[in-house]
Amino acid sequence: MGIDSIADEVLGRIRQEGTYRTLRTLEGPQGPRMKVDGQEVLLFAGSNYLDLAHHEEVTEAAARAARDQGCASGGSRLINGNLAEHEALESELAAFFNQEAALLFNTGYMANLGLIPALVGSGDIIVSDALNHASIIDGAKLSKAETQIFPHGDLDALEDRLAKAAQQKRKVLLVLDGIYSMDGDLSPVAAAAGLAEEYDAILLLDDAHGTGTLGTHGRGSAEHAGLNKDQVHILMGTLGKALGSFGAFAVGSAKLRDLLINTARSFIFSCALSPPQVAAARASLSLLTREPWRRYQLQTNARWLRERLESHGLSCAPSATQIVPVILGENDTTMKVCQGLLERGFYAQGIRHPSVPSGQARLRITPMATHTQGEIFAVADSIAELVHKYAPSRIHATDSEHS
Ligand SMILES: Cc1ncc(COP(=O)(O)O)c(C=O)c1O
Repeated sequence: MGIDSIADEVLGRIRQEGTYRTLRTLEGPQGPRMKVDGQEVLLFAGSNYLDLAHHEEVTEAAARAARDQGCASGGSRLINGNLAEHEALESELAAFFNQEAALLFNTGYMANLGLIPALVGSGDIIVSDALNHASIIDGAKLSKAETQIFPHGDLDALEDRLAKAAQQKRKVLLVLDGIYSMDGDLSPVAAAAGLAEEYDAILLLDDAHGTGTLGTHGRGSAEHAGLNKDQVHILMGTLGKALGSFGAFAVGSAKLRDLLINTARSFIFSCALSPPQVAAARASLSLLTREPWRRYQLQTNARWLRERLESHGLSCAPSATQIVPVILGENDTTMKVCQGLLERGFYAQGIRHPSVPSGQARLRITPMATHTQGEIFAVADSIAELVHKYAPSRIHATDSEHS
């Protein structure tokens, strides 16, 4: 069977399920306004939440690093690619999170693929939330540990899994997302950390979307939940979202770093991040500390968006963060609303199975710190008009209509 017939068969099935995907092309500087497929739009579909990717200090740092050091690291960290720039960012990340050490990975996806098998293996147990990110699912598969999935956010079910594993005296890794990437809700991380302590489980928190966006200092969902630095044993964060660069990191103890350098295959067998990416992340990290208004404004914008959508009778549950879903159910309805928004000059992505459970297709709207209130209200008003047109049953009576 040739490649084309394999592609026809698989893609035919995907088309039939209504989940066929194509790429859109974006142009222009990263920011709240960009060109999508040649059309100027207001962007509500990214993860450059703090609008740092095109910040002058960030681009200058990247340009300087490219000029002074070049565009590649030249190899993997354990051969010739361990640059002073990597070591500097790792020290800065460790200091930022008040932890002993940090280690860079090339993406959040690769971090989870490397971290999980470095921590557990055959005979061990991974306890994982049902809505954890695909990279956690894949990392768990690679590890060959037994994965026990508990219903999303269900602390009783989590405790049940942890208690049973403790009785069996097996090594247990509890893995949670900090912010769930398709729903925008927060993990009950404080309670989960308490259970991890009680049942002697290792806690790995994937804070891809919480890094830089939550917490007094921008340290993420664990800081937001009031946890102390020892309660999360391994914190994974990304550099390609709020930090406006590319890459990811794990922070924790010095021994964890040593273990990962020696065992995390996605760290060992891959070229290191390039100097411009690392220098950009260093500049962003510094801005994160100096410009806290960005994360406050981001969360204010997200609240304005949720309130405006709710005033139109649209539910954004269970979002409590900058990831704001409007669940529309059917794939084709969701994509019609997405297309209608583009025609009105807004880009918010329609999300379908397998990124979300089938029957729960949704519009996923992600504001940025630098959107204005007028822009936030405008996208919400347009969404409401389009949902009225294509999915009127999704509009609920509002309090003002009741009274
Ligand atoms: C919860 C979560 N973890 C990991 C990742 C992967 O991070 P990256 O995009 O850096 O590969 C994502 C990406 O969106 C995510 O949402």
